Amino acid sequence: MQTLRNLYKKGEPITMLTAYDFPSAHVAEAAGMDMILVGDSLAMVTLGMQDTSEVTLDDMLLHCRSVARAAQSAFTVSDLPMGSYEVSPEQALQSAIRIIKEGRVQGIKLEGGEEMAPAIKRITTAGIPVVGHIGLTPQRQNALGGFRVQGKSTAGALKLLKDALAVQEAGAFMIVIEAVPAEIAKIVTEKLSVPTIGIGAGNGCSGQVLVQVDMAGNFPPGRFLPKFVKQYANVWDEALRAIQQYREEVKSRAYPAEQHTYPMPEEELVEFRKAVDEMPEKK
Ligand code: KIV
Repeated sequence: MQTLRNLYKKGEPITMLTAYDFPSAHVAEAAGMDMILVGDSLAMVTLGMQDTSEVTLDDMLLHCRSVARAAQSAFTVSDLPMGSYEVSPEQALQSAIRIIKEGRVQGIKLEGGEEMAPAIKRITTAGIPVVGHIGLTPQRQNALGGFRVQGKSTAGALKLLKDALAVQEAGAFMIVIEAVPAEIAKIVTEKLSVPTIGIGAGNGCSGQVLVQVDMAGNFPPGRFLPKFVKQYANVWDEALRAIQQYREEVKSRAYPAEQHTYPMPEEELVEFRKAVDEMPEKK
């Protein structure tokens, strides 16, 4: 937390990336990410679900434990999935405690503005760091009419600022701002005394977050990518090429070659062959 606060004070952007298991967290850690988010986007990108509403707290816990084992210095945060915190502040606290105790990550993130302030207050009062999430909140996509840019009107932008201030006041130490015009996210950031992490919210936030499979290009061609995603690699193509070559080499018996096998002393082999030859014929 102190490291993150120092980055914020210095004006150095905070880097956050999603990870869902040991290898994806391991590579994020090795690349020096300041924060690793076990996002509920794992519902779609790791579990193949239709949207985030299907993923459960128990699903999240399994993935949190896997991520936590790989994260040494990155600060780890997990989403509270839909249905695990909206009923009451008590429910939110109970879910947050499970994420910390059983999931072994260091903080939680939850979606929502002013209306979630009592839940945020309850969780932070128990000593659990909370990241807020405002703007486009994918768990509410049905109510929002899909994945739409938020805060585009004066009223929408004012609501966003009100939400940000309420979430900060309730004790969130950081706020993710998703799919909001860059100018609005910048003004909201300037009005706050906690860092903002942008995703589709321009360069005026205190840091950035992306979904790892999106930025690494670990998906088949033709998949929709939001405008704000920059694809830094094509992991899918590289994995596909490798797996196709492996398949071909197994079929042609080019793999395994001699260097992939374990040697045996010649005299042991001669003796083994002799013993086999002396065995009675199979009936
Ligand atoms: O679930 C997720 O991956 C997220 C990020 C996109 C912020 O909430």
